[in-house]
Amino acid sequence: VRGCLFSAFLLLLQEEEFNWLLKEEVHAVLKQLQDVLKEASRRFSMPSPGMESQLKQENFILGSSTMDQVKGVLTLQGEALTQADINLKVAKSSQALHFQFREDKQWKLQQIQDARNHVNQALQLLSSRDDSYRFKTGAEVNKLMDAVMLQLTRARNRLTTPASMTLSELATSGLMKMFSPPMPGDVMVNFYINLSKLCLTVYQLHTLPPNTTKNFKPAGSSVLHNPGAMFELNTNRFEVSHVHKVECVVPWLNDTLVFFTISLQLCQQLKDKISVFSSFWNYRPF
Ligand SMILES: *[C@@H]1O[C@H](CO)[C@@H](O)[C@H](O)[C@H]1NC(C)=O
Ligand SMILES: *[C@@H]1O[C@H](CO)[C@@H](O)[C@H](O)[C@H]1NC(C)=O
Ligand SMILES: *[C@@H]1O[C@H](CO)[C@@H](O)[C@H](O)[C@H]1NC(C)=O
Repeated sequence: VRGCLFSAFLLLLQEEEFNWLLKEEVHAVLKQLQDVLKEASRRFSMPSPGMESQLKQENFILGSSTMDQVKGVLTLQGEALTQADINLKVAKSSQALHFQFREDKQWKLQQIQDARNHVNQALQLLSSRDDSYRFKTGAEVNKLMDAVMLQLTRARNRLTTPASMTLSELATSGLMKMFSPPMPGDVMVNFYINLSKLCLTVYQLHTLPPNTTKNFKPAGSSVLHNPGAMFELNTNRFEVSHVHKVECVVPWLNDTLVFFTISLQLCQQLKDKISVFSSFWNYRPF
């Protein structure tokens, strides 16, 4: 009987503690999460100092440790590439090509836009449960944490997983029409985000003559295609002859990735706490 009473007493204590957790601690964590995610969200839309209505423009110098055929400067303003100034030394000749975005053009980086949208959706989920909201069960908190974590995982995945494309998709992409002078038919470019890096890939192509003895096999989708990859466009066949990859670190993207990691940890810790209580109740001694 004494053991039983003691268990009942423990259970009461646990229940009180659990109610406290649901009432106070959960809201403290939600507030912390909101603070971290607001910082992340702010990184995506930093205003220019003195021009608060305008997003900050930042220039990044493209570099590569292994090659100097491609050099350039990219201008990023929030999620938009507003300028790309690219110098390309063509492999077969000593000819240098110079391209810029046309004045009237900018290129939206879909990965950044999507990541920002997911962060804002996570913030909306959190603000729908303000201090006055009473969580009734642990399951309810878990459900909220799962929804927030899903948005944060998607935000992170958007920055860590560049889009796979076929070479013919790349060749017909709007990006090829962005440049002045226009890109020659045997050069293609692609921009993507990989973690905290903004990457530029330049492909040089050569046309496969119709009577070629080479076995034609079109390449599938990929983030990065290798020399030798082939594709067909308007009955012409092409092969990638050279690939140049250059990149630059965008420090605020690195910040957002760190904030995503911290937020995901906060969510997981709260879920763990709740599961400790739940497992205790699943083993009630009576
Ligand atoms: C992305 O970055 C990782 C880590 O730096 C690297 O290993 C990988 O090759 C990169 N992928 C692409 C497609 O740039
Ligand atoms: C393909 O045709 C061109 C002329 O059209 C010719 O000069 C070349 O030798 C041919 N190549 C092969 C592999 O038959
Ligand atoms: C990214 O941020 C972390 C934490 O602030 C820092 O330790 C790391 O050096 C940063 N990396 C880059 C490439 O800026």
